[in-house]
Amino acid sequence: MRIAVTGSSGLLGRATVDRLRAEGHEVLGLDITGTGGPGFTRVDFGDYGQTLDSLLGVTARHEGLDAIVHLAAIPVNGLVPDAATFHNNLTVSFNVMFGALRAGIRTIVYASSITAMGFPFTVAPASLPVDETALGAYNTYGLGKVLEEAMAGQLVNWHEGTSITALRYTNVVAPDGYATFARAGDPSYRRDLIGSYVDARDGALAVSLALAHAKPGFEVYNIAAPDSGLSIPTAQVAADWFPDVAITKPLAEFESLMSTDKAQRELGFRAEHLWRDNYTAG
Ligand SMILES: NC(=O)c1ccc[n+]([C@@H]2O[C@H](COP(=O)([O-])OP(=O)(O)OC[C@H]3O[C@@H](n4cnc5c(N)ncnc54)[C@H](O)[C@@H]3O)[C@@H](O)[C@H]2O)c1
Repeated sequence: MRIAVTGSSGLLGRATVDRLRAEGHEVLGLDITGTGGPGFTRVDFGDYGQTLDSLLGVTARHEGLDAIVHLAAIPVNGLVPDAATFHNNLTVSFNVMFGALRAGIRTIVYASSITAMGFPFTVAPASLPVDETALGAYNTYGLGKVLEEAMAGQLVNWHEGTSITALRYTNVVAPDGYATFARAGDPSYRRDLIGSYVDARDGALAVSLALAHAKPGFEVYNIAAPDSGLSIPTAQVAADWFPDVAITKPLAEFESLMSTDKAQRELGFRAEHLWRDNYTAG
């Protein structure tokens, strides 16, 4: 496929471009920052003109696309003022999704977030493990993700055959970013993420599978490692963090409290890079 990846200079974007190219796709990276060269074009997705033009075609880069992987965003509150996070992310996602449909592109895979489903879980979830039915935003970044999902759920009905897949990532860990797992025995570690994590390379795997399984309509999938980021058994942390919350299925000793059952069942997703294999103390 001919695929554009927005946010291609970022953590998830770099891993995704690498993976999709290795699989043989023709991939164009699009980002507001990045080094010029073949396979990359600098675009500010806050500007609809630039967005639409870059999706329709770019001289010496592409003359049409089959799919968009949309990862461009300010990925957390605190980097810029809260309202700026919201304005950038909502505008960018509208411009990319609406522009893609205008340009005739009918397959979109994009990054949603655990922040659309209750992060930082100061308010206890309704049940554990947390699945895709959970919805709740507690900051402007999460609010943007909730609204983007609502927007995508409407946009798929505007043109026949449109497929939009939201991948609700938990905290993405860079391949060289495992040092924090030194705290895996600390019950406050990753409490706001209900213990979850996912390696960027597995984030890219999820994109690849979502593209391969794209079908008309809107779908949401949780994307996390199958195990928790803690060395404390899951039943113990669940009882400690959320003593009054029901656990709806038998849990393996270190199973993640962010359910990826749907992604496993429907996409065949199972993360391959686990901190237990990758982290070495010291
Ligand atoms: N990193 C995480 O832990 C995490 C967790 C859940 C979801 N996500 C989501 O995954 C996606 C990728 O996140 P990431 O961790 O790779 O972030 P990142 O900051 O490493 O990369 C995001 C990229 O988007 C680009 N970008 C932002 N605004 C832009 C604009 N107006 N025009 C063009 N480019 C713009 C940035 O330049 C950057 O290179 C985002 O949607 C983020 O919200 C990330």
